[in-house]
Amino acid sequence: MTFSNTLPAPDSIAQQYQDQLFAVIQQHITDAGGKITFADYMNLCLYYPGLGYYSAGSQKLGQQGDFTTAPEISPLFARTLSCHIRDVFQQLEQANILEFGAGSGKMAADILKELENKQYLPERYYIIEASADLRQRQQHTVKTMIPHLVDKVTWLDKIPENFVGVVLANEVCDAMPVHSLQFEAGKISERYIENDGQQLQWCKGELSQPHLANRAAEIQSLIGDCDYLTEVNLAAEGWLASIADCLQQGTIFIIDYGYPQVTYYHPQRTSGSLMCYYQHQGHDNPLILQGLQDITAHVDFTALAQTAIDNGLEVTSFQSQADFLLAGGITELTLSHDDADELLMLQQASEIKRLTLPAEMGETFKVLTLCRNLGQLLPRIQLGDRRYSL
Ligand SMILES: C[S@@+](CC[C@H](N)C(=O)[O-])C[C@H]1O[C@@H](n2cnc3c(N)ncnc32)[C@H](O)[C@@H]1O
Repeated sequence: MTFSNTLPAPDSIAQQYQDQLFAVIQQHITDAGGKITFADYMNLCLYYPGLGYYSAGSQKLGQQGDFTTAPEISPLFARTLSCHIRDVFQQLEQANILEFGAGSGKMAADILKELENKQYLPERYYIIEASADLRQRQQHTVKTMIPHLVDKVTWLDKIPENFVGVVLANEVCDAMPVHSLQFEAGKISERYIENDGQQLQWCKGELSQPHLANRAAEIQSLIGDCDYLTEVNLAAEGWLASIADCLQQGTIFIIDYGYPQVTYYHPQRTSGSLMCYYQHQGHDNPLILQGLQDITAHVDFTALAQTAIDNGLEVTSFQSQADFLLAGGITELTLSHDDADELLMLQQASEIKRLTLPAEMGETFKVLTLCRNLGQLLPRIQLGDRRYSL
């Protein structure tokens, strides 16, 4: 199903950006001998310097952008996450935060404000951001929202060698490039992108990486012989392995939309989970609007949990976002206004609904909590723990 003919046409400046990126992609395809993996294509579309969706200057997040994330919906999200962060800090001598893919920077600013109020400021708040443009926006947000805390925040170009503290990734794994696999009449192939002269199109080929063969075999055992398209996110697994390597002590909270493996690779989910977002409209055609639209895929949390175990981390909880936020005390945060402003309370009630109701973000989004060297169980991550499903 494709909805692309209902999408608004880009303006002339956006069109120029798309044309330039299209030329870059064509060149990559030529240089690679006629086709590139979908993962390479997605990487160019999202992160090609100056032209990729996350690397170019357009507004992406929030009402003026293409999609909205939990920290943009309400500061209550970051404030509740701060309660979980405090639980970890209580067990550490050195308290730092490392946030990946900080988007507009709003979550970082809201967390620092909340931790300051609760007298739990970290020594440092590090941000690693794949997009130079977003890094600038984050710097602007931090300067504007928390000018007195600017010195706490440091942007890093790579994962530090050693880290003690809390690692955060909200909607980051879903923005990593995925490999696209096709199962057809018992044969497994990888889907590539080729150029037919004027347009880009899908084509099939051999698996591009040896590791994909093991993953494809696992998927095959779950789906049987049906014809099937799906995705594998090796980038997220590599990313998590690198974090595990640097985390000496502390906790990683991975928050994203996704499923355990048996649901992700359910025989009935025959067309994968690739989605594109352009001006708040979702559709399933990544071969248009290069650099102008977001491209994402759901996260396979079992693969992340397995990577965590393989790299010596403890998988301590797997909750729905609703349970994570309720356990973190999101509803109590709204009661703490003595000078209760009715409008604010109504607004907060509606934000909490968006963040927690099952038909909104509450069930689709999950939180995977991973720990290393913590002496005690984190108290709030037990509510609705579904590790059994991973
Ligand atoms: C969907 S946005 C989410 C932004 C923000 N976390 C939020 O919730 O509003 C994805 C973000 O992850 C960043 N990103 C993707 N892969 C990354 C990586 N490997 N390291 C750091 N940032 C990454 C993107 O540039 C972007 O800022």
